[in-house]
Amino acid sequence: MFRSVGPNPAPAAHSTTPPPKNASPDENNNHRRRCAPATVGNGVVSDDFLESLPPKRSKRAADSIKSAWKRHLTHIANTDQKRHFKEYRSTHEHYRTLVYEPENTDIYPLRKQERDKWIFFCSPAKRPTLRYPIVALPAVAEAEQSETAREAEKVATVQGRFKEVLVSDKRFIALCPVAAGTFDHRDEKRLDPLRAIASLVFSAVINGKLIIARNAGTTLFDYLAEGGQLPMTVFQALVRDVDCLHALPLRGGAFVRDIKLENTCIRLPAGEPLPPGPLPSAQLIDFEDDVLFGDELLQLRPEHARGTRECQTDALMQDLYAGPAAGRSAAANALDLYGLLLMMVAATAPPGSDLQRAALCEHRQVPELDVHPGAMHDGNQALFKPWIEAHVQDGHAEDVRQLLTDPAMFARQHPERLILAPMLRFAESTTPSSCARSNS
Ligand SMILES: Nc1ncnc2c1ncn2[C@@H]1O[C@H](COP(=O)(O)OP(=O)(O)O)[C@@H](O)[C@H]1O
Ligand SMILES: [Mg+2]
Repeated sequence: MFRSVGPNPAPAAHSTTPPPKNASPDENNNHRRRCAPATVGNGVVSDDFLESLPPKRSKRAADSIKSAWKRHLTHIANTDQKRHFKEYRSTHEHYRTLVYEPENTDIYPLRKQERDKWIFFCSPAKRPTLRYPIVALPAVAEAEQSETAREAEKVATVQGRFKEVLVSDKRFIALCPVAAGTFDHRDEKRLDPLRAIASLVFSAVINGKLIIARNAGTTLFDYLAEGGQLPMTVFQALVRDVDCLHALPLRGGAFVRDIKLENTCIRLPAGEPLPPGPLPSAQLIDFEDDVLFGDELLQLRPEHARGTRECQTDALMQDLYAGPAAGRSAAANALDLYGLLLMMVAATAPPGSDLQRAALCEHRQVPELDVHPGAMHDGNQALFKPWIEAHVQDGHAEDVRQLLTDPAMFARQHPERLILAPMLRFAESTTPSSCARSNS
């Protein structure tokens, strides 16, 4: 596992930025732009059942559902959560633990089966409900008996540097702190300008010991560890979204800072051949506490440095945390592009190849070997050259070569050229490059 440096996050400047307008939350707990009328059947959303009812009755039915839902949200908002175990109570301002009422099994017979197995966190703030299966001995015993249950519920032992997977199923993942740590409160409002970006899979800090997120799939680190190799297409949306983050009109752009294989997931199983047909896109996790806005860059000091050594260069770190004000945004931008390029090279290179090893930059941990300003240098440029020829657009080979060779120098000399999507060739793609797209 790669090592991270600088455990302390940069101080988060509080934003007064309102959430994006015309937005609703989606599967990733992002806010989602509403569909344009043309994308939902010429503006008419049809519902066969409602249409079969006389209009007055269907309105009455819709009204009673609406008011029941409103009452439910009021109930959720007012619950003191006292009826549940203390460790399951939410301190997140937008979520409340939903107390389960097992005695209602005559109305909801399926509830009995679910008893003691799931915790729900409902949101009166209109965020999608989160839930996770509780790791309890009966649940594990049942899972052992049932193949489908075993597939659906997996008690995992995956961990990063700060968080450990407590339990996951196909849709959700619950994380606890490693060792005796505690999760810090997260300023959710600060992240609101990022919620329309589909490549970001948001997690919610429910309380000091629990984070819940949509399951974003396998990390690319695990995917490659099982001998996986991915085509460039899976990175197209991610690269475009990172360019969009950098160009965010609010707050001087946003910069991810720790783009790497371990923080990027894809909804594909590790160790299996690629399925036929279109592939899912790679998405970022674990960005919430590292992401920086352009107007925060000047507050940075060397002690705020963080990220992953293999995915940085010393000169980039110097320029971002101690360099002149004018160059910080370009350095933050180039740091993300360098991380993205290394990740794409590693993931598309033949498994175990010299090129993959060069892109993993493990030599950064050995001081005697760590003598170059970037991953690519005179000694290994023959490895990178065929990759550049295959995946870089005509006219941009030199830019990509410089980004891989000395990203800090490229950022200082060409800050206006730090946009990656137009430089790359994503096979068989016809999607236009644009920041204004829907999350669906
Ligand atoms: N949304 C998610 N979907 C799938 N796996 C996840 C998700 N969030 C975390 N993980 C898994 O948990 C590990 C640790 O989570 P992460 O948020 O990266 O913590 P850390 O701060 O310790 O790096 C990840 O490397 C990944 O394996
Ligand atoms: Mg991580």
